[in-house]
This record gives sequence, structure tokens and C-alpha cells, in this order.
Amino acid sequence: MYIELNCPSSLRKQLAKLFGESLKATFPGESDVLPMIDACVAKNGVKFADYQCNNAMSLWAKVKGKQTDFKNPRSVGEGIVKNLPPSEMVESCSVAGPGFVNIVLSKKWIAQSLQRMLTDGIDSWAPRLPVKRVLIDFSSPNIAKEMHVGHLRSTIIGDTLARMLEFCQADSLIRRNHIGDWGTQFGMLIAYLFEKYPNPEDVNESAIGDLQAFYKASKLKFDSDPDFKLNAQQSVVKLQRGDPKYRTAWQQICDISRTEFNKVYKRLGVHLEEMPESFYNPLIAPTLEKLEKLGLVEDSEGARVIFIEGVDIPIIAVKRDGGYNYSSTDLASIWYRLNVENIEWNIYVTDVGQWQHFDMLFKAYRRAGWLPKDENGYPKCTHVGFGLVLGDDGKRFRTRSSETVRLVDLLDEAKRRCKASLLERDNAKDWTEEEIEKTSEAIGYGAVKYADLKINRLTNYTFNFDQMLNDKGNTAVYLQYAHARICSIIRKSGKNIEELKRNGSLVLDHEDERTLALHLLQFTEVFVESCSNLLPNVLCEYLYNLAEIFTKKFYSNCQVVGSPEETSRLLLCESTLVVMRKCFYLLGIEPVYKL
Ligand code: ARG
Repeated sequence: MYIELNCPSSLRKQLAKLFGESLKATFPGESDVLPMIDACVAKNGVKFADYQCNNAMSLWAKVKGKQTDFKNPRSVGEGIVKNLPPSEMVESCSVAGPGFVNIVLSKKWIAQSLQRMLTDGIDSWAPRLPVKRVLIDFSSPNIAKEMHVGHLRSTIIGDTLARMLEFCQADSLIRRNHIGDWGTQFGMLIAYLFEKYPNPEDVNESAIGDLQAFYKASKLKFDSDPDFKLNAQQSVVKLQRGDPKYRTAWQQICDISRTEFNKVYKRLGVHLEEMPESFYNPLIAPTLEKLEKLGLVEDSEGARVIFIEGVDIPIIAVKRDGGYNYSSTDLASIWYRLNVENIEWNIYVTDVGQWQHFDMLFKAYRRAGWLPKDENGYPKCTHVGFGLVLGDDGKRFRTRSSETVRLVDLLDEAKRRCKASLLERDNAKDWTEEEIEKTSEAIGYGAVKYADLKINRLTNYTFNFDQMLNDKGNTAVYLQYAHARICSIIRKSGKNIEELKRNGSLVLDHEDERTLALHLLQFTEVFVESCSNLLPNVLCEYLYNLAEIFTKKFYSNCQVVGSPEETSRLLLCESTLVVMRKCFYLLGIEPVYKL
């Protein structure tokens, strides 16, 4: 767990409070017993209770042999039940097996809690972060190098984490794009540019065209032509010294890259605030000076380095040629974030391969006394890693021509496929062109995001259009269908939901109504688990189960429109929509209202 969230609306938290009181009354001598409450999982489709309190066994181990009224763990369980303070939340408790306390919640309480959420809005369920100023560094592609599928993962996962943290009421959340606009590759690119266009006026977007191709061509020359290589190296020096001609060329190249990145962000609906590597360049020397004074920096084969206990290779702060690198920039950028931006929690979303880079930086900061020795203290720095993107062949994802994939093309392809399948449908002619455009974007881009988010980010993930665009199984398309179906149920009823919210009431007499309502109330505790571990897949699984419970249980067995329970069931449909949309929002998916 990365962070503890304060969340009074979580059912588990509420039960823990209640059982905490009982534990205190049952064992006045044991002051530090934390209530252990878990949601019950169904075995073979059967669930004996909603929650379980599992303290009896370990408490028995503590008091066994001492002078008490208890003769076995079961009697401890019975004691816990007996001392439970009265509560409207709990319908009944019973002791099972060696001492598990089974808890059944009151369906009246469930109904009332859900109805309150409908009135107060789902944000009334939001947990709170213990810190106010959070920065999340994600996407962060490199100029002129390819923005590859790894950056797509960082963009998708980072955006979702940002949305989740925002939901937890961070007063200020910065979405930082640490664009790589400063490095030796620029010498090569500028040298190549000047060779192709000796006259600077001729340089424009169409001249450079596809930057990736431009990068590849210059790299080819760099690797094969020693004169060019020398020229490229001299160009970096000129650029870094601020030669105006070289600065202008650098700016032109950066701007073209940005236009390309922005196309991807626009399609994904992701907003980032850019502070590129070059920004920190003037801050590197002063930061290193401070570290030098603290005695952290030493000489190693002509380079200036920082050794970290337990790691063989040091952080290279200054290269042998006197130049700075990726690590030098990050040493300065952390300093800026902690001391100028006053960030309390600084998060990085990159592939797992960069884990060591960040781990070493954080350790150096701890050594310097710039981060607390206790890793859980604040300010805190966290690296959030993710696995590789693979193609169907199990290798790194590439297109047929074995080149890296242009991300815009990838997203356009998802949209194109969705559009084609929408146009094939019988009701295609009832749709306006704009509806088709919007719907295929929402479904296509949503599918790409969901396919990535639904798996544990630490594992590698296989990119497959057919799988992610399937309307069955755990896909965004399936979820969109479920959402649209519920919208259509409400439309068909012809009822005004706002009015039902004011005057109708929720009643949960059918078992499947109760199951659905309980699952909806469990949103908060699942969200807390997902957010405190920075694992969006936990939220995806919840959303998928919600769609399944609605479709396969509630909607299959409980008639809504035209039934005597219509009002209550419409309120249940509306509650489902509210929770689904919150999940969609957190996952960055645009819901579709008709399909
Ligand atoms: N530009 C880097 C890459 O493409 C990611 C940057 C992550 N952020 C940072 N502050 N180092 O791998």
C-alpha cells in the first residue's frame, strides 16, 4: 500500500468501527487489537453472509491459558457478537466454524444508504488523501525519438491515477509532462537538419515531415559517417551554449514533436502540464553543488558520481565530458518539485525498467536528508512501474514492417474498426453522422484504455484489437453495451428520474436487487483498495462485476418497466448508472448513452 485514505463511507470501515467497540468491550485488557473485517466471497454461487469479522482465532491464541471466560475460539466469536453495540447497519451476526463472525447487513439500511447517495451525489462517498499537494509525472515522451506504446501505457495509467487522486480531494494535483527535450540526440538532428536545409528559412513542418523518419535517417548517418558524428557532437555543445541558430532549430524540432504528441492527447482526452527537461538545465549545477557540500558526490574515472549503498553502479551526476544526463536532470527536478512547488507526494509513472533509476535517486535524496528516512513519511516519492506492451507474437509490439507504431495511427485504427462495425448494424441508418463519429471514438479509444487498465500494470500486456473490441467478455465494449442498455430501460419507462429521486423509495425485496445494491455500496471500499495501491485493474474488475450482476442477475430476474416495483427498480438502475459513470470517468472512458 502506498497511501492510507480516510474513507468514512466504506462499509468495511464502518463495520471495523463497530466491531472495534465490541473488541474493546470483550477484551478490555487488549488495547491494540485491530478489527479484521473482510467482504465475503461467494463459493459455488452461494454466500453465507456479507462480511466476516476474523479476530476470534488470533485473539484466542493471545488469551489461551490466561484467566478468561473463553474456552475456545468459537466462544471468543460469541463474545464479540454479544458485545456488538446496537446498529441499524447490521441485521444479524452468527458464529461459524472455528469462530468466524458472519455479518449480514440490513437491507433497509442498504437501501437507505444508496438512496442517500442518489440525493447527495457520488462525490459524497469520496475518500480523502492525507496530503494536499500531489504531482504525478506521466506520459513524458522524448522529442524526436518515437512516442512509443510504452508512452501510451504511461499516458493511460497516469491519467487514470491522476483522476483517482483527484477524486480523493487533493487540493492541488499537477499532471506533469516531463518531456525529454534535452539530450545528445539533438546534436544529431540539428546537424542533419542543417545538412538538408542549409537555408534556415526553408525549415518548416513539411520540410521535416515525419520526425520519426527524420530521426531514423539522421541516426543512420550518425552511426555510419564519422565526420557527421563529430559534427553532431559539436552541434550539441553549440546548442547547450545557447547559439541562437542552434536554439532556433531545436525549437522548431520540439514544436513539430509537440504537435504530434498533442494529437494523441486530444484523442485520449488527456491534459498534461508540460515542464520539459530543458527547464531544469540551469538548476542542475546549483543542486549538484548542494550535494557536493553534503559530501555525496565523488570522483570516479573522471565522472562525478553518487554511490548508493547496495548498488554497484553509481548515479552519474556529471559525465566524463562534463555534460549532464537524464539522472542529472532528475536530481534537479526532484529538488524543484519538493522545494519550489512544495509537493508532498511526487509520483512517477514509467516502465518497470526505470525502477532502479528512481530508486537510486530517492535513496540519494534520503542520504542527503532531503527526504525523510522513513519511506512512508512525507514528502514522499513513489515510482509506479508497468510492464511491456507485447504483440500477438509475444515480442515487443511492432507493426509488420518491424517499425515502432505511430500512436495516432493506432488510435485511429481502433476508431475505424468501431465505426465499421457500427455502420454494419441494422439500425445504422437511424444514426446521424455525428453520432457515429462520437460513438466510435468513445468506444474505440475507451477500448484501448480499458484493455490496458484491466490487467495488473506490473505485468506485460498483449495488444490485440480483436480482443479489446469484442462485445463479449471483460472489455470496454461490453461495459458500454451494459451502460447503454440501462439508459434505454430508463428512457423506455418514460419516467422523470429526478422526480423519482425526490418522491420514490428504494426497496430491496428480491435477492438480486439486494445483491446489486450491496455491490454498488461496495464501490468506495474497492476504490480505496485500487487507489491506495495505485492499481486501476482493481477498479476495472469491480466495474466488470457490476455490469455482470446487473445484466445476469438483476435484469434477468427482475422486470423493471411496468412491474409493481417499477419506481424502486428504476432508482436501482439510476444508482447503477451513477456508479458505472464514476468508474468510466475514473478510467478516462467516455460513456455511450445509446448503442
Ligand atoms: N522521457 C522518459 C522516457 O521516455 C520518461 C520520463 C519520466 N520522468 C522523469 N522525471 N524521469 O523514458
